Amino acid sequence: MATPVRVTITGAAGQIGYALAFRIASGSLFGPDVPVAINLLEVPQSVQAAHGVAMELQDCAFDLLTSVDIFDDPARAFDGVNAALLVGARPRTKGMERSDLLEANAGIFGPQGKALNAHAASDVRVLVVGNPANTNAAIVAAHAPDIPANRINALMRLDQNRAIAQAARVAGVSTSRLSRVVVWGNHSAKQYPDLFHAQIDGKDTDIFTSDVDWLEHDFIPFVAGRGAQIIEARGASSAASAAAASIGHMREWIHGSRPGNWASVALASDGSYGVPEGLICSFPAVSRDGEWEIVQGLHVNRMSREYIDASVAELVAERQTVRELGYLN
Ligand code: NAD
Ligand code: LMR
Repeated sequence: MATPVRVTITGAAGQIGYALAFRIASGSLFGPDVPVAINLLEVPQSVQAAHGVAMELQDCAFDLLTSVDIFDDPARAFDGVNAALLVGARPRTKGMERSDLLEANAGIFGPQGKALNAHAASDVRVLVVGNPANTNAAIVAAHAPDIPANRINALMRLDQNRAIAQAARVAGVSTSRLSRVVVWGNHSAKQYPDLFHAQIDGKDTDIFTSDVDWLEHDFIPFVAGRGAQIIEARGASSAASAAAASIGHMREWIHGSRPGNWASVALASDGSYGVPEGLICSFPAVSRDGEWEIVQGLHVNRMSREYIDASVAELVAERQTVRELGYLN
């Protein structure tokens, strides 16, 4: 058998971790021919529950799964890893915004960034899922100077999937016929789901954008508020859809984008579209040869500019908060 890809899931005993581990072990992320070794990282009090996850993984007898190891020490959990899914963090509950988690969760990501920097494989890809995901990813990046900036992402794919699903419902088409639906900015209520570049069957369409009132008062608030709607209904935040989005993000990153389509990826800004350099902001991106490239040269109309600027301003404010809390310089 080929050398396995090594992947670490943090928060492995939590809801998303539980939904992720089995799909990764069955080949959904790296592919049907790629053996995989899974590291599960948990806090000491949840290590026993992580052992339960490991036992179930074993009981699935997945052909591709070569090992499952459990850790409570990031340095050991990230040793030699090619992919790290940073899920372990507190979720919000009813009535909270994701930014209300800054103080509770920011302290997790500095030590994990340091451990990744020191111990991960040189080709490591890092996806931050724990909220507030963009700013947590910024903390990881600040503590991992040797990992190329575009290799540390935050998850926006769930927002993009929500936008695609909603737009497809409204247009009465299958999701597979829609492309270039993107979400800019922060994974927060101020995200900007953008339909101005959307295509159906690879062709431009104005069926969404001809009704700006619908965009502003229906579509955008629906997508941006979907996480809260799920918390309201389930009494817990999204889990299976978050795991599916994480797998979709990583799979596209590794295997490349579908020709003509774009992903929504929160990664360190290179100054594109006037977003301050280094801010972990979501842009339309394509994956080529295993690396994300921000789609350049898009026309950003006045309405889009205002939404993007508002989301970016929120990211700048979050960065300032974590600076004041001492998690960033
Ligand atoms: P959960 O409470 O079910 O699980 C979190 C797990 O993380 C727990 O088992 C906990 O013990 C563990 N954990 C806490 N600190 C840790 C640390 N330092 N190291 C390792 N493990 C640690 O929560 P969940 O529903 O799985 O959600 C996890 C995070 O993902 C939350 O912050 C949630 O808000 C976020 N989330 C993000 C998105 C997104 O699109 N970015 C979507 C859904 C959820
Ligand atoms: C989501 O978008 O479902 C997650 O970020 C969970 C949340 O707090 O909304």
